[in-house]
Amino acid sequence: MIVSSYMKILGIETSCDETAIAIIDINETEDGVLHVRVLANEILSQIELHRPYGGVFPNLAKREHEKNLKPILEQALKKAGFSGTKNPPVDLIAVTRGPGLEPCLWTGITFAEKLGKEWNIPVIPAHHMEGHILASLLSGEGMAEHSFTLTMPEFPALALLISGGHTELVLMRGVGEYQIVGKTRDDAVGECFDKTARILGLPYPGGPEISNLADMARKENLKLKTELPRPMIHSKDLDFSFSGLKTAVLYGTKGKTLSKDDIKEYAREIEESITDVIISKTGKAIEVHNAESLIVGGGVIANQFIRSALKRLTDSFDMPLYLPKAIHSTDNALMIALAGYFSRTEAKTGSLPLKAIGTVPLGPKI
Ligand code: KG4
Ligand code: ZN
Repeated sequence: MIVSSYMKILGIETSCDETAIAIIDINETEDGVLHVRVLANEILSQIELHRPYGGVFPNLAKREHEKNLKPILEQALKKAGFSGTKNPPVDLIAVTRGPGLEPCLWTGITFAEKLGKEWNIPVIPAHHMEGHILASLLSGEGMAEHSFTLTMPEFPALALLISGGHTELVLMRGVGEYQIVGKTRDDAVGECFDKTARILGLPYPGGPEISNLADMARKENLKLKTELPRPMIHSKDLDFSFSGLKTAVLYGTKGKTLSKDDIKEYAREIEESITDVIISKTGKAIEVHNAESLIVGGGVIANQFIRSALKRLTDSFDMPLYLPKAIHSTDNALMIALAGYFSRTEAKTGSLPLKAIGTVPLGPKI
């Protein structure tokens, strides 16, 4: 095997409520195949701390990142076999610059810059959503749990990004060439799961809760008498809107004492309504933009019902579907290290400013 490019990258992710550090090495062979070995992939989730607030509390998240980055780095260096070394054999540091909660992003960036100076290596900003896309392109190699190849999808590819903060359809002509062709006008899919769950009295994060109860409802043949709306399902564009669904749940349940079965019925209808909208818009986007493959990323893709529906959709188009493994679907730093790899040339020219941008869109590199 001829090695044309080889490097070790340390990724840092602090955009929301996960503090994560990963160390990977990447081998790009001459045929363009990327072999990714994960030396460490450490994640500390703050979910339990934020649960009482019913969502992520930014200042608490920032404080936790500040407290946890150093011990997580030590843990990652130890896993990679680099502890005790003054200058670990790392070539590049990639850190999330956005989108996300700005105070949290700054914590990661400040930490990365200090580390870069100490180790005398470049630090490059990475886009969180590009990370989600790239994580979905990893496939396992043989039996090894820590070795993957990154497969280039068939272009033009369509990427569907569904997370707590994002709902986007992105047309992708290559890695780094993104055009947003559809997005939510109000709430994101994950946000809709979380907010409707809260109305039903379920804990944060609401996605997994709704999903479990919806499964039970289907098994027990429980169904809500009145359908919830499928917002914008028939609109001609590729945009989404989920706030109407939330309002419908709010008014439908107002002043009522809900039984366990009522909650299950709502959960099922919420999940099915969201899935119907996602499938309809994604199918439309595939047709309109003649996409050759579909990539799906973001925390919501942990949802089995949505995964199966997307599989049926891509089967009907006879096109490949790229879904992340469960461990790569929630926020992690491995995906940030991958995004850093694809932006390494910008690292040299310094054309990507190292500053937190809470709402930085995917698109041409700015
Ligand atoms: O990508 P992610 O980990 O963080 C953000 O960048 O937002 O996504 C978190 C979101 C939350 O809204 C959570 O409720 C949702 O993903 N989620 C799910 C499931 N697991 C997590 N939504 C539906 N079904 C699930 N199984
Ligand atoms: Zn995310």
